[in-house]
Formats: sequence, structure tokens, C-alpha cells
Amino acid sequence: MKIFKTRRELQSFALAEKRAGRTIGFVPTMGYLHAGHMSLIDIAREKADTVIVSVFVNPTQFGPEEDFDRYPRDFERDMALCKEHGADAVFAPETGEMYDADATTWVEEKKLSGPLCGASRPCFFRGVTTVVAKLFNLAQPDFAVFGWKDAQQLLVIRRMVRDLDFPVTVIGAPLVRDTDGLALSSRNRYLSSDERARALTIHKSLLGVRKRIEEAGNIGALETALAEARSAVSASGGRIDYVTALDLDTLEAPTPQSEGLLVAAAVFYGTTRLIDNEVIQFKK
Ligand code: PAJ
Repeated sequence: MKIFKTRRELQSFALAEKRAGRTIGFVPTMGYLHAGHMSLIDIAREKADTVIVSVFVNPTQFGPEEDFDRYPRDFERDMALCKEHGADAVFAPETGEMYDADATTWVEEKKLSGPLCGASRPCFFRGVTTVVAKLFNLAQPDFAVFGWKDAQQLLVIRRMVRDLDFPVTVIGAPLVRDTDGLALSSRNRYLSSDERARALTIHKSLLGVRKRIEEAGNIGALETALAEARSAVSASGGRIDYVTALDLDTLEAPTPQSEGLLVAAAVFYGTTRLIDNEVIQFKK
């Protein structure tokens, strides 16, 4: 498995793979890899001839008060896991390598980035779309795999790819949970065992919303179901950023015409912000 530290090395490798007629599958990550990330690498491995993983804690998607400095890192373990899952190359640049010091160009999606995480983390999606656009230009993927764990991010990336004509097929991978139901996240390691136990309420309450909506077959009971979910999360000691449901296509308020719903939550336990979601498709 090759490990590249510079943008130039990665792009030369990717272009050579393309010239040799090989397809490239790409999995961008911020490292501290877990089974959720591994499932993405496995999908890329099935789809493409050459698999590239990036491990880069991207400073431009963190706010000034956020956890960029303390974001967990474990380079050796990440490399071993990538190798074990058949990655051909890993791109792991130092922070200073990724952006030119006087860079002045941003990639910004202006609609789907607005609500949910975009509302509480104003620069987040601009940082994500900019770094992913750069990574696409460096890794030259035919396929790129993103997790439904970060549903809004997946939708934003799909929109960017469509709007800017990136020749990339974006694959959405199912959300991977721990055996107790907690959505796997690199940030789970910040949780005390007590916080972790209480955080299980997020998934349970989103499942409650799902059950109510599926039983009704429409959004009639949505506000009541969301109110119940919010009380359960608050009762567990979670500080709610949002617990809400939006139209899956537009990320606007759902209507009776909505074909799908994104039921999504962002909740703090202590200082740790966790996100989770359920996707509900209506049969029309
Ligand atoms: P990171 O949080 O490391 O996640 C990398 C990829 O793994 C994302 O596509 C994310 O949705 C997916 N992922 C994380 N946890 C998952 C889980 N439990 N189940 C399924 N997939 C999961 O998302 C980022 O990094 C960054 O924003 C990035 C796209 C790399 C840009 O910097």
C-alpha cells in the first residue's frame, strides 16, 4: 500500500492509474477510522480497480471554537486498517500541505448547506465542499463513497458533483452502528461511559419517529412524534441542537408530496456533539 504525503504525488499516481485504464474508487476521511469508514472502503474495493483513501483532518470545516486541535488521530492504526481492507494508496498530507497559504478560492453549495448542521456550523459545508473538490481533482475518482451517517453532507456533495459536472459517481453507504445502536463516529471517543449510555436515546427516539410515520404512512403525526423525540432526548441529559425532519430531496419543510424524509438529530452530551438520522421513503 502506497502512502502519499503530497498533493503532487497523489495526482501523478491517480493520473497514471487512469492512463493504464484502471478505475479509481475514493474514500475521503478525517481518520481515526472505525467500522463505518471500513464499510466505505469495502464498497470502493468492490466497485473499482484501484482504491484510494484520504486521511486528512480538514481545518477549513472546523469553526474557531470547535475541536480541530483535539480531533482524535492515530496514523499507524489507520494505515493498518486501510491495508487490511485492500486500499492501494492512502493520501495523508500534513495540515500545511493541503492548501496554499494564500489560497482564495472556495467551493460553496448554497441551498442544501443551509439548514441542520449548516445553521449551527456556518462555515462547515463550505470547508467540506472545498476540500472534497480539491480531493476529487487530486484522486481523479470514478466512484467516491460517502456515508449516510452524514446524510446532509452526502446530499451536498451530490449537488456539488451535479452542479459542477465532476465526472464522479457518488455512492451512499449505509450508516453503521455499534451493537447497542449508537452510530459509529470518531467523536464517540470523547464520551464518558455515562454520556455514551445516555446518548443511545438519540437513536431510540429517531426510531420512535420512524415507527409513528411508517404506521401512519404520511406526515400527519410528524410534529407530535418529533416533540416526543425531543422530550426523550432532553430527559436523557442531551442538549439539542436540532431534532427535526426535512424533505429528503430539498431539505425544506416536508409536505404531503414529499417522497422521502430525513429525520435528523444533532445533540450535545457534555461538550460532544453527535449526529444521527433515519431516512424514511414513502411508497408513491
Ligand atoms: P469523517 O467524519 O472521517 O467521515 C468520512 C466518511 O465516513 C464520511 O462519508 C462519513 O459519512 C462516513 N462515516 C462516518 N461514520 C460512519 C458510520 N457510522 N456509518 C457509515 N459511514 C460513516 O465526513 C468527513 O470525515 C469529512 O467531512 C470529509 C468528507 C472527509 C471531508 O473532510
